[in-house]
Amino acid sequence: MNEPAPLSEGEQRRLRGLDAGALWHPFTQMQAYLDDDPPPPLIVSAEGNWLVAMDGSRYLDANCGYWCQALGARPAAVERAVAAQLQRFSHSTLLGLGHAPAAELAGRLAELAGEPLAHAFFADSGSEAVEVALKIAYQYQVHRGHPERSRFLALGEAYHGDTLGAVSVGGVELFHATYRPLLFPVERVPPPYCFRCPWKKKPESCALECAGALEAALEQHAHELAALIVEPFVLGPGGVIPQPRDYLARSVAAARRHGVPVIFDEVAVGMGRLGRIFAFEELGAKPDLVCVAKGLTAGVVPLSAVLATREIYAAFLGTFGERKTFFHGHTFTGSALGCAAALAALEILGEPEFQRRLREETIPAFWRMLEPLRELPHVGEVRGRGMMAGLELVRDQVAREAFPWARRTGHRVVLAARKRGVNLRAIGDLVLAVPPLTLKPDELALLGRVLGESIRDVAEDSKT
Ligand SMILES: Cc1ncc(COP(=O)(O)O)c(C=O)c1O
Repeated sequence: MNEPAPLSEGEQRRLRGLDAGALWHPFTQMQAYLDDDPPPPLIVSAEGNWLVAMDGSRYLDANCGYWCQALGARPAAVERAVAAQLQRFSHSTLLGLGHAPAAELAGRLAELAGEPLAHAFFADSGSEAVEVALKIAYQYQVHRGHPERSRFLALGEAYHGDTLGAVSVGGVELFHATYRPLLFPVERVPPPYCFRCPWKKKPESCALECAGALEAALEQHAHELAALIVEPFVLGPGGVIPQPRDYLARSVAAARRHGVPVIFDEVAVGMGRLGRIFAFEELGAKPDLVCVAKGLTAGVVPLSAVLATREIYAAFLGTFGERKTFFHGHTFTGSALGCAAALAALEILGEPEFQRRLREETIPAFWRMLEPLRELPHVGEVRGRGMMAGLELVRDQVAREAFPWARRTGHRVVLAARKRGVNLRAIGDLVLAVPPLTLKPDELALLGRVLGESIRDVAEDSKT
């Protein structure tokens, strides 16, 4: 690895001052950030699956830039595609004009998704993709003559992004409660959260009450629903909560029976994270709208997309005077750089040999690495799917009792891992392991060792 020299002490102090004095970090309690000792790394370069901080320290990025750098931090083919696109043009609006990379990418996504998901609408982030899907779903109902179908059915512990529409359908109290007065009302069903089953069931007594609740909600509210929105297979940031077998199939089948369109938010689980380009490929049924982001460009530049069925797209066609236009689009919608990056990323992610290796080697090895961690003190559950795992830390493993929130147990594991050269992220006391899909065997071994040692360190501390 061609590492740059650490920055001079003076330059480090200057940057640290700016970071502390001028920058407001997202989803970060700034007081706690400023109090971290040693202070959080300030990244100046990256190579492979590693980040390099200004003082020269290196970190295996097991959070891969918040789950988006599917091919590591510096995927050469994707960077080359962006550089080549920069030589042609960096930006041209899609509002009323076309451009080559966007047309190519829309065609490629439609080809990969297969009929009837034949149309792609681009956006800039996962949150915006969700906004787009919600607006399309509602406007589709308006065009069908059902303006009263304006509600959405969503899951508890769902996370769909942090713009207001996405927050409305989100169900994570910690992230969303403050904003409730600003949000539109949503029909919500309890999540299929087996570790803390809302119906207090055990695996032996489970009769998929969670799927039953979703079916009942569809039955009761179908007449007023614009769509059901769900993160398929795993609820991501809300707790890396895998859905029990048959949950998704039953939910989609029930939505179909009641004529309720289905939105899959595949922002976290798509683009290889679960072993396939689209998570719905595992299901054998397709949603009506699907949101993808994060790994779409392998995390090199921001871009997201919503794929829509032919039927939905067709409902928006009409004369200019009919005003069936989809009134949405940002300045950078369908960024040429983003589209070029996505085309290059999909070339790798969609390659059959890459996918075979991912499903048959990388993902099984990842779960073999995680297996022994289940036995560690204070690990309540290790859960997830594909290359996405969460380790829920608890004070009492039998009672599944949480640590006091203010103790920041999850964060203390993150700090302990940082000392050992691995970058992790925790949401509360859920320690996340969401590494690049290109994780090498020695890096996987390092991740396993560091997770184990860091959790043990913190568990030792927590005895008191
Ligand atoms: C399932 C899901 N939906 C939506 C989003 C929002 O995406 P973004 O952060 O790109 O706005 C995320 C982000 O983590 C996500 O995991």
